[in-house]
Amino acid sequence: MLNIVLFGAPGSGKGTQSELIIAEYGLQHLSTGDILRKEMTEQSEVGKSAKGYIDAGQLVPDEVIIKMLEKQIDLKGSKGVIFDGFPRTVAQAKALKKMLNDLGTDVSVMLSLNVEEQALIDRLLKRGEISGRSDDNLETIQKRINVYKEQTLPVADYYKSEGKLVDIEGNGTVEATFELIKNAIN
Ligand code: AP5
Ligand code: MG
Repeated sequence: MLNIVLFGAPGSGKGTQSELIIAEYGLQHLSTGDILRKEMTEQSEVGKSAKGYIDAGQLVPDEVIIKMLEKQIDLKGSKGVIFDGFPRTVAQAKALKKMLNDLGTDVSVMLSLNVEEQALIDRLLKRGEISGRSDDNLETIQKRINVYKEQTLPVADYYKSEGKLVDIEGNGTVEATFELIKNAIN
């Protein structure tokens, strides 16, 4: 099984590259951000409790995220999963390890998309013109980037210590970045 943690700052291209990886390798996609936005649209309990955090650019609490993921994960007949935007804390990384180990598998690799901060901001502001995402405005984008640096970057060290971290230069075009990802996977 090929289980990929696709890691990177807001706007680094996780969602964009996930789609290309799925088309090439036939993996399942698990984006905690996409799941949370769906829950918000449906005004479910999870959605209602997550909204305040998302609008403020803060992380949704680990318990909520881990429980949500436990419900979603189903590996029957699966070639593997791309985890997009998860894990975002070391506690989430440890919970993921346990979940996958219990299912007889593990994370294969963490691909970390490295993109310069100004490019992240430019991309997200541009997307904000059409996305309708409540967190795609300059103030919240800056908060999301700070939260990434303070709370999420340590997750890269966690996978580095497991020998699973692969850095991907993500400043180039979508296509150029995907070539680097394919090389890393193959
Ligand atoms: P989430 O939905 O995961 O958002 P994010 O991490 O902030 O990242 P984005 O989805 O904005 O960016 P991306 O890296 O997917 O880039 P994309 O491909 O779209 O999380 C949202 C919120 O939910 C969090 O803030 C938190 O509150 C909560 N949350 C989610 N998961 C959580 C968790 N595990 N724990 C706790 N809370 C959680 O690209 C961005 C734009 O750039 C697009 O317009 C794209 O077309 C463009 N683009 C992409 N690549 C390129 C390129 N190479 N060149 C030029 N443009 C490009
Ligand atoms: Mg995304």
